[in-house]
Order: sequence, then C-alpha cells, then structure tokens
Amino acid sequence: MEDLLFRALIVEEYEPNKFRRFLGTKRLSELPEGNVLIKVLYSSLNYKDALSARGHKGITRKYPHTPGIDASGIVVESNSEKFNPGDEVLVTGYDLGMNTSGGFGQYIRVPDSWVVPLPKNLTLLESMVYGTAGFTAGLCVFEIQRKGIEPNDGKILVTGATGGVGSLAIAILSKIGYYVVASTGKLDRKDFLTELGAKEIIHRSEVYDTTGKPLLPRRWSAVVDNVGGVTLSTAIRSTEYDGVVACVGLVESEKLELTVYPFILRGVTLAGIDSAETKMEKRLRIWEYLSTDWKINLNKIYREVSLDQLDSEIEKILNGNQIGRVVINLWK
Ligand SMILES: NC(=O)c1ccc[n+]([C@@H]2O[C@H](COP(=O)([O-])OP(=O)(O)OC[C@H]3O[C@@H](n4cnc5c(N)ncnc54)[C@H](OP(=O)(O)O)[C@@H]3O)[C@@H](O)[C@H]2O)c1
Repeated sequence: MEDLLFRALIVEEYEPNKFRRFLGTKRLSELPEGNVLIKVLYSSLNYKDALSARGHKGITRKYPHTPGIDASGIVVESNSEKFNPGDEVLVTGYDLGMNTSGGFGQYIRVPDSWVVPLPKNLTLLESMVYGTAGFTAGLCVFEIQRKGIEPNDGKILVTGATGGVGSLAIAILSKIGYYVVASTGKLDRKDFLTELGAKEIIHRSEVYDTTGKPLLPRRWSAVVDNVGGVTLSTAIRSTEYDGVVACVGLVESEKLELTVYPFILRGVTLAGIDSAETKMEKRLRIWEYLSTDWKINLNKIYREVSLDQLDSEIEKILNGNQIGRVVINLWK
C-alpha cells in the first residue's frame, strides 16, 4: 500500500515536561511495526487518553505521540492468518494509545494478538460506545457474577456514576436485574442516571467517610469503584459479608487506607480490574456478553464528535465534567 498521509491528533513535548497538542498529519510509514494495518472509523475518549493527551510520562514515555486506547475499523493490510483485508475489527487496551500510535489517528498498525473480530451483534460505532469503558464495566460485572452475587443479595454501588465506566456499569447491571445505587458529584444529572436504570442517586459525599473506623454499617452487596482514595476505602468498609468491590479507577486518588478487618471479618473481596492486559480468551467472552445478554440501549449514552472537536472534550474529561461516552468519528 502506498505511503498515505492521514490525519491524527499529535501531542508533542516542546520543552522538557511542557506539552501541546494539535491536529496534524502522519504517514503510514511512521506507524510502528505490526502485522495488521487498520483504517480506524471510530475511537472513543477515556480518562487515560486525556492524561496522555495532556502529557503524562507514566502513560506515554515518548512524545510526539497520538493517543487513543480504543479503535474500531476495517483491516486494510494483513500479514496475519487470522485477519483479511475488509474484516471489521476492534482494538482496546494493550499498548494502543500509550506508546503505540493510537485511535486518535485515521490508521493504526498493531500485532494481530491485540485484534478482536467485531462481535456479530455490534456495529463499529456501538463497539466504541462501549470501548475500554464498556469493556471495563463488563469485567466488573463478570467479577460480581463470579463471586456469586445475585440481584436479591442487595444493592450495588457504582461510584463516578456519570463517567464512562460508571454509566455503562449502571446500565449493564440494571439490565440484568441488579438494584443499582449511583454515587455522583452531579446531582443535576439525576435524569440521565435514572434513565440508565439507577434506582437511587446519592451525592458522592454520602460515601466518603473520614472517621477512620475500620468497619462501617453494611450497605452494599457489591461495588464498582471508579474513584479510589477515601471513597474506595469507605466502599470496602461498607460492603456486606462475602461481597465484592471491583477496583477500577483513581480519579479521586491512587491512595487506599484500610485495615484488614473488612477482609477477615466480613470476607469482602477486593477485585482488581485491568482492562488493558486482559487475556484474549476472557476478552472475547466479555465482548460476547456485551453484544448479547448484557447488551444495553447504547443510543442515549454517547455523543459523536470529529477529530476537530476533540480538544475541548479532552479538557472536559480531565475536569471530571464528561457525561457518558464520547465517540470520535475519524472521517467526519
Ligand atoms: N482498571 C482499568 O482497566 C480501567 C479502565 C478504564 C478506566 N479506568 C479508570 O477508571 C476511572 C474512570 O474512567 P472513565 O473513563 O470512566 O472516566 P470519566 O468518564 O472521567 O469518569 C470519572 C467520573 O468520576 C467522577 N469524579 C471525577 N472527579 C472526581 C473526584 N475528584 N472525586 C470523586 N469522583 C470524581 C465523575 O463522576 P460523577 O460526577 O458522577 O461523580 C467523573 O465523571 C479513571 O481513573 C480511569 O483511569 C480504569
């Protein structure tokens, strides 16, 4: 294939630890090695993308760089036996968008071991409404079910409720019959959360305990926590006997202060969630669920933007002001 020029968001370090981003062009020959070249039709915006786009050496070691940990599109060149030109595929996680040029460019080149065939009941657009956020929400649901928690075991708390992972977790858990309590800093977005299926909406200050008590009254059969810090500690100390807390994110803090009592007196399980390196067998299983039994109405949960509109969306997610999901149409 000729060495095409394509559009991409480029983040550069113009002085040590000073970054700027702009829409520019790249050539296919600048993409890293890999045996599958994909024309990206859609990507999506995740918190991690925003950190990489702002300049974050913990996520992206070397700049200039094109972020985008999610991509869906069409295979245009393949040296893999698993994929042929014309195949519809998606990629989430691994090194995509971290140190490998990502989905905020119109083409990506990746190893075939990262590529997921598009599930039968999803469109390329829908797969990016889910993206890493939906896949991560799916991993949380998987952990809750694996622990044997059933709808009549009690309420499930989802923190960071209006965010990407939060909103999708609420919608999936509600769809499969769980009673979901949404914790949010945006009580004015009650309607959005109710429409997703949340039965109760509480302010995040109600699940933020600084008393230091090792155990709190039991409130939750399970928790999906996107924020970390005091909120995660509060959630673990408030979880029922044999409950599970899925630890996803750190928008509040990466710190966690606790005693061992929730674990040894209540049998609480702290389930770490890592969507980036999930093994392919499990990955395919989660995507299968997301496209069948767990499939939710994806229409009301996202906004579609072009590459030109991406900059302000990045700022919004960094400030904790995003609602639901942002899908990027690379050719709009
Ligand atoms: N482990 C994994 O594999 C994995 C995968 C995906 C994402 N993550 C992590 O999970 C987190 C959520 O990701 P996302 O893409 O859903 O981000 P997001 O869309 O920005 O959602 C985060 C939500 O958290 C709440 N929030 C923001 N700042 C907060 C603060 N200071 N204290 C408490 N709550 C705050 C806000 O919701 P409300 O206003 O409704 O409270 C915000 O919408 C991030 O830390 C991300 O890095 C991890």
